[in-house]
Amino acid sequence: MNAVRARRVDGVSSGKRNVYLLGFMAAGKTTVGRTLSRELGYEFIDVDEVIEQRVGRSIREIFREHGESYFRQLEKQLIAEISTRDGVVVALGGGSYVDEENRRIALATGTCVFLDTPLDLIRSRLKDHDTRPLARGPDELGNLLNSRLPSYLQADLRVSGKGTPEETVVAILAELRRSGRIR
Ligand code: S3P
Repeated sequence: MNAVRARRVDGVSSGKRNVYLLGFMAAGKTTVGRTLSRELGYEFIDVDEVIEQRVGRSIREIFREHGESYFRQLEKQLIAEISTRDGVVVALGGGSYVDEENRRIALATGTCVFLDTPLDLIRSRLKDHDTRPLARGPDELGNLLNSRLPSYLQADLRVSGKGTPEETVVAILAELRRSGRIR
């Protein structure tokens, strides 16, 4: 038995217990993450929400007033900060996992779960919202998703996000169990 398995706490290997939910915008990371955290008895952290609270501005305003690179800097700092915690479920923003350093940190400190939600569903969810500065026309969305897929596919686990949030949580828990990450 290796050292990590020998130190199981609450049925989960200690030291790499965070769960990072990643995937495209409107994939359902926040809704699924909240329920998943309750099931696991973990705290839930939504990266975008914390950034908005700290800056006192919406994501859209931060992009407009300071630009995307400023937002990416805040995102990177926050992910590094969260990675020092143990036993949290984290909803990552849709663009954060494209960054190599963010990916490396998340993979080293938890299980990365790609919430793979079909583009049609994403398009219909985004139709009536203007909270996401990078959600432009339908073609641009498809191109953006395609350019990000190679990064998303580097996650530890891939779970379909096309069912209800409850079904998705059940599927994630099953994958975490199957892969020996929880009992
Ligand atoms: C972004 C996704 C958003 C938010 C920001 C940028 C992206 O988060 O971080 O608008 O680059 O895809 P969600 O994935 O929660 O929508």
